[in-house]
Amino acid sequence: MNLIADWNGVDPRKAKTEIVRFNHRLAETGLFTDEALARLIDETPREEVTICTMQPCPPADVRWIAGNAKDLDGAALIEAAKRGRLWVSPRNAMTKHPTYRKVFDQLMGEFGKAAGMRILSADASVLISSADMGIFFHVDPAETMLWHIRGTKTLLVYPPREDIVTEQALEAILLKETLSDLPWRPDMEKEAVAVTLKGGEAVSWPIHSPHRVLNGADLNVSMSVEFSTPRSMLTNGVFYTNGILRRRLGMNPQTRGTPGVLKPAYWAAARAIKALAPPKTNVERAHVRMFDVDLSAPWCIRWRRGCEPSADWNKAA
Ligand SMILES: [Fe+2]
Repeated sequence: MNLIADWNGVDPRKAKTEIVRFNHRLAETGLFTDEALARLIDETPREEVTICTMQPCPPADVRWIAGNAKDLDGAALIEAAKRGRLWVSPRNAMTKHPTYRKVFDQLMGEFGKAAGMRILSADASVLISSADMGIFFHVDPAETMLWHIRGTKTLLVYPPREDIVTEQALEAILLKETLSDLPWRPDMEKEAVAVTLKGGEAVSWPIHSPHRVLNGADLNVSMSVEFSTPRSMLTNGVFYTNGILRRRLGMNPQTRGTPGVLKPAYWAAARAIKALAPPKTNVERAHVRMFDVDLSAPWCIRWRRGCEPSADWNKAA
């Protein structure tokens, strides 16, 4: 069975430069039913499962809140995601779990062929999230796409322009000085392209396009993919090298205007710099656990003492 059901006749050149939508058959693998997802959670080391909550219909600049679910098995977590306000994500499940890995390798093979891209590396998370959850405004350093499997959601994609995402911000993310958060301003909203997705639809967007996500009124199951291609590797090599030039030599380089012919030199420089001075790896903030998942608590969230949320969290979606 082909996992891409319909490529919609998209010109492969557009897959690199535009928002591209296509259809897939991931649901037919049987790996994303409630039972299969519960098993996946049980078979994933719990420290590799992100558990968080957030304000319903989260504003673009509001981050999520980390929690814990130590004593609950996969079936209970799926139940909590259906009834409550939760985001449950076995990170890297598509490459770490052997059954899911097989499907993922096939789908990346099909995608690379359809989009005319050579995929150098790829990883993907499974996202299981309640109605009205979402992800704040951010940018990923890698190429990214979203394969949506169950429920409805809206992805908002913003153009990767200097007035939306500065070169300095991208450099900081690539140099691991910051996470993928970006400053957001209300006037950026007029630039957003809204892509509504239902199960069986996938979307990819140009590298370094900021984005955010808002779930619909139902349980959402998706797969978010990060991958690299020779092109993204070269582009990020230029950002990385220029980030170093800006910070250590006080220069003011412009990455977006770099001619393609020069990019391999920048990439080689980035590789050499990384070998000499590896980027910091300790930027990941310690996510303080503020709640425990509890099926008997309102929205299945039992707040820890002193961590009770603001009125915004408690308001109806
Ligand atoms: Fe993202």
